[in-house]
This record gives sequence, structure tokens and C-alpha cells, in this order.
Amino acid sequence: MPPMAVLATYNVKGGVGKTATVVNLAHRAALAGNAVGARTLVFDLDPQGAASYYFRAAPKARQRGKTLVSGKVDVRDAITPTDFPGLDLIPSDFSFRNLDVVLDAAKDPGRSLQRVVRPLTKQYAHVFLDCPPSISRLSENVFNSADALLVPIIPTTLSLRALDQLNSFLAKRKQRSPMVLPFFSMVDRRKRLHRELIEDLCLAHPHILRTGVPSSAAVERMGAHQAPVAAFDRQSSAVSAYAGLWDEVLARLDGGGAPARARARSRAQA
Ligand SMILES: Nc1ncnc2c1ncn2[C@@H]1O[C@H](COP(=O)(O)OP(=O)(O)OP(=O)(O)O)[C@@H](O)[C@H]1O
Ligand SMILES: [Mg+2]
Repeated sequence: MPPMAVLATYNVKGGVGKTATVVNLAHRAALAGNAVGARTLVFDLDPQGAASYYFRAAPKARQRGKTLVSGKVDVRDAITPTDFPGLDLIPSDFSFRNLDVVLDAAKDPGRSLQRVVRPLTKQYAHVFLDCPPSISRLSENVFNSADALLVPIIPTTLSLRALDQLNSFLAKRKQRSPMVLPFFSMVDRRKRLHRELIEDLCLAHPHILRTGVPSSAAVERMGAHQAPVAAFDRQSSAVSAYAGLWDEVLARLDGGGAPARARARSRAQA
């Protein structure tokens, strides 16, 4: 059985590949999980509803953000199946834009989401939270709910600053913080700058995952197909990247992985 976990994509920056990661990793997790009866759930917390769009899902009537996170309705009633076996979804809609206000008004503002999400782990081995780009009340709830944060980083020096800021923010929290799993997103290996930056940054930050997601036309086509890449282009380099990324995430959740120094060395040599 794979290690169970609540995983959230997180980055204050917009457009870095958070949703693409959730959709493709969740699809991968479900494929792998089917063999052992481990189900996967995606909870789309972004009012833009991009993950819901990729899975062709509409929210169920009356399952609005407010009622969902306030615990007034059973969250399980909001779950809808996707086209893929073992993979379910809680769709988002525009009402989710008010989640910050709803959470602020809650009795324990930092923990409302946790109360909704945690019970779902009885049914689902992996729960993915797709988050909007911000630092907000919702982020605090996500930090309290997730076992790990998947942090896509575009290979630029500035992106690393955002990662450093996230790490120091989490370190200052009194509550237990999720494991941070950064990885490179939209990597263009043809660009010398990308290659050099990745080598340098991996040496300086050994906790960055080895697998980077390439900049890929297939990922861009997800919108037209409304599906994860593996459902319409199995040969794409993005499919093997997401598969590798998922294996690495599972290994980290399991407490595994090469020692930090060896990892950095092997990356530098790659
Ligand atoms: N690996 C990739 N290669 C090429 N294009 C990508 C890749 N990952 C994401 N994109 C494209 O970049 C855009 C942003 O991706 P995505 O929606 O996943 O980012 P996001 O971080 O979730 O954005 P937001 O902050 O708005 O929620 C999309 O048009 C997507 O198709
Ligand atoms: Mg997104």
C-alpha cells in the first residue's frame, strides 16, 4: 500500500504549474492506486476552477464553498466521479472566492478546512488540494491540512526567493508544518540558463526533488482535451516526468530518498 497523504500544490506565484501538477499527479496516483484499491481525490479550492475544468466536472447544486468548509453539509455529498477509475473530485466554482471570508468567520479560523479534509483520508489514500496563488487565511488552512506541499518552481533566481520565504514562514509557525517538496516546473533543457540554474539551485537546496517537469506542448493542450496528458498523449515527456515525480513524492512521504548530499551530487552530474 502506498503511503497515504494529503498533498497540496502551493506557490504564492500564479501560473507556475500548480493545477497541471495536481491533475497529472492525481491521475498517476489513481492509475497506480487501482491495483491495490487505493483511491484518489482532488479537492479544487481555486475559484477559477481550472482543475474542475480539466476533469470536465461541474459542481453539484448547492455545494457552495461556504457550506462546504463550514461543515454544514457532509463534504462527501460534494464528491463527483471523474472519467478515470479510482479518481474522484470535489469541484470548485466562483463562490470559492469567498473562502477567506468564510474561514475568517469560523470558530477556529485556521482549522476549518482540516476538519473537512482529514476525514476524507478514511476513503482516499491520496487527497490533492489545488490551491489558488496567495498567502491568505486559506493558505493557513492548507498548511494545517496537508502532509506535504508540492511547490512548483520555474527555474529563475527569483522563484527560489519565494521558496525561501515559504520555508522561513513555515519554520516560524507554532503548529506542525507540512513537508515541503519543491520541484522544477516548465523546464526548458535547451536553455543553458535553465540547466545552469537547476544545477546550482539543486546543490544549494538538496531538498528540491530530482524530477523536473519539462516545458511541454502536451501540457498546454490539456485545456483543449480537458484531460490529464496521459489520457491523450502517452508518449509525451510530461507523462514520464509526472510518473517520476510521483514516485519521488511517494519515496519522500515514506521517509526515503537518497541522503541529501548524494542527491545533490547525482543531480549535478545528470
Ligand atoms: N509543464 C508545462 N509546460 C508547458 N505549459 C505548462 C506546463 N505547466 C503548466 N503549463 C501551462 O501554464 C499555464 C499555467 O499552468 P497552471 O494553470 O497549471 O498554473 P497554476 O500555478 O495552477 O496557475 P494559477 O496560479 O493561475 O492557479 C497553463 O496555461 C498551462 O497549460
Ligand atoms: Mg491553478
